[in-house]
Amino acid sequence: MTLLSSLNISAGYGDLLAIEHMSVDLEEGSLLGVVGPNGAGKSTFLRALMGVVALRSGRVIWKGSDIGGLPADARARLGIAMVQEGRRLFPSLSVQDNLLLGAYHASRTERRERQEEVLVLFPALRDILGRTANVLSGGEQQMVAVGRALMSRPSCLLIDEPSLGLAPIIVDEIYKTLPKLLDSGVSIILVEQEVGRVLSIADLLVVLHEGKKVYQGAGTEFRERPDALAEVYLGNVSAVGGGN
Ligand SMILES: Nc1ncnc2c1ncn2[C@@H]1O[C@H](COP(=O)(O)OP(=O)(O)OP(=O)(O)O)[C@@H](O)[C@H]1O
Ligand SMILES: [Mg+2]
Repeated sequence: MTLLSSLNISAGYGDLLAIEHMSVDLEEGSLLGVVGPNGAGKSTFLRALMGVVALRSGRVIWKGSDIGGLPADARARLGIAMVQEGRRLFPSLSVQDNLLLGAYHASRTERRERQEEVLVLFPALRDILGRTANVLSGGEQQMVAVGRALMSRPSCLLIDEPSLGLAPIIVDEIYKTLPKLLDSGVSIILVEQEVGRVLSIADLLVVLHEGKKVYQGAGTEFRERPDALAEVYLGNVSAVGGGN
């Protein structure tokens, strides 16, 4: 079943259209990778799905209903959560309080339960619950950012460049949790510039260029032909026999 779709959406800032006519489907239980160079519109695409940036045209469909006019908090209540680029934690708050803010509407018992789930996923956070966010390492911050998003028990997680600025061994840690999330029923849209990482786990891969989807292909297709992905990434769609 298709969980979340964008239908021909355009969005931008002021006079700038950062994404144009993008149609993408996220199937339930799958991981959709979105790749493309700097400024391609990857973050804008996630923001438009979340409702942080308004649509200029097109529709966003969640479980069959048009949610394109709903504000972000309403989409969050439906089960969509976003981990923004650059983590965006509350710097003066503790790790625990940052996590709890992800579930501020839940009961105290429920917040405890959810926090426990996050700590099982990211055991490294258990010992630093009292530490303020501004002293955390980049990797710890990223774990808190993902953990905070999970505190709302989303059925769909939008993650924007989790690997940015992190050592490979830390990125490994973060990526190890993604299959676990999929197993627990969370569907994922993962934005990355580091194509190899997404390629290793994506069911479907979408390539953006200058605000447009130039290609999409199954993860298996690209894993068999990584050279084709490199071509598409550089904008040479004809190398893979046209787009779709
Ligand atoms: N808040 C903003 N105000 C004005 N323009 C913006 C804003 N955010 C992004 N843009 C512009 O929109 C375009 C797409 O940006 P976006 O951040 O979506 O790209 P991206 O693919 O996420 O890039 P990166 O890989 O560098 O994160 C760029 O031209 C960018 O300069
Ligand atoms: Mg971005």
